[in-house]
Amino acid sequence: MKSPDLSVPELSIVVPCFNERANVAPLVAKLDEALAGIAWEVIFVDDNSPDETAAEARRLAARDPRVRCLRRIGRRGLSSAVIEGALSSSATFIAVIDGDLQHDETRLPLMLAKLRAGEADIVIGSRYVGDGAAAGLAGTFRRRLSAGGIRFAQMFLSTPISDPMSGFFMLRRDRFEAIAPRLAGSGFKILLDLLFNAKPGLRVVEIPYHFRPRAAGESKLDALVLTQFAGLLIDRLLHGAVPPRFIAFAAVGGVGVGVNLAALALGRALGMGFSLAQSIATVLAMAVNFQLNNTLTYRDQRLRGSRLWRGLFLFMLFCGFGAIADLGIARTLYEEHNSLTVAGAAGAIIAVVWNYAISVTLVWRAR
Ligand code: GDD
Ligand code: MN
Repeated sequence: MKSPDLSVPELSIVVPCFNERANVAPLVAKLDEALAGIAWEVIFVDDNSPDETAAEARRLAARDPRVRCLRRIGRRGLSSAVIEGALSSSATFIAVIDGDLQHDETRLPLMLAKLRAGEADIVIGSRYVGDGAAAGLAGTFRRRLSAGGIRFAQMFLSTPISDPMSGFFMLRRDRFEAIAPRLAGSGFKILLDLLFNAKPGLRVVEIPYHFRPRAAGESKLDALVLTQFAGLLIDRLLHGAVPPRFIAFAAVGGVGVGVNLAALALGRALGMGFSLAQSIATVLAMAVNFQLNNTLTYRDQRLRGSRLWRGLFLFMLFCGFGAIADLGIARTLYEEHNSLTVAGAAGAIIAVVWNYAISVTLVWRAR
């Protein structure tokens, strides 16, 4: 009997992708060229992109066993895509690289050599060491943002790293598996998440690369992603004592109280009675809160279509109870011209915990 081909991959390259159809085939070709002589595989993790990135990956996979594809439905998120892709690997080493050709795949063999030699647990592609370059960062705003974020993140790291925001790195899979259960998994910053949660800490080697301009399509980094980044750092500060989602939820709740008070003041100014103005203000605040939570707090489980309406209905119905507590706060503030009393603060805490419990269990429950 002919023995089966046992050339299992030594290196899995995980590629998070969303709407990267045009970049899939060029990336595979570049990997093929860069990784000659290495047993590798590539795992595209696509969040059901409307441009059918997954179908494109499968088309290539049909004629190249080194190409794999993981299609996730009803989910969004770079970090969680990377985590799930990496956990589907059985190779010794895992690399993470963007699907838009911005990272330099020709650095992969050097990164692998460092790991094989045991010089590091993780090798990070850096735009800011040696002759690395961040030329591909679109515009001054993105560059400033990147520099500011890096300085901020460095305050939280025990060993200084020049590019902790890098989305381009390679590590031992056994180390990844050990850290995986502790990862927050939200937002963009999977590398920071890994570095924060590694016990014992990862030995890091950074190697320079040139960050290229995006090949096709557009960046998915936006204000919401940045908010999630802030959440990751807050979580770090609180040592995981409070779930990051709860913090986001409470912050949204704070915005809701602001909306409520503003609408109430407006209603009163327009001559409405307190109860009418407050009822309208409450409904408005709840709708704003629902929308913010749906796009921010529960971004990865965002409700759409009929689920959105069902979610809004449930949210309004049950959080209406929370709003009764809120009414107490508003009345104290508005009518007595008093600052937040202890009772008001207690009411707010009860309301946010109640609303959060309803949201997790009924509105944005994991499907
Ligand atoms: N599966 C999945 N789901 N993939 C995603 C998602 C998502 O929700 N959002 C983004 N991606 C994929 C993109 O398709 C791309 O392949 C990669 O993640 C990076 O996303 P970009 O939108 O291109 O991000 P960027 O170029 O602004 O920033 C990247 O490069 C920086 C510098 O290395 C990211 O990798 C940053 O983390 C990194 O700091
Ligand atoms: Mn990019």
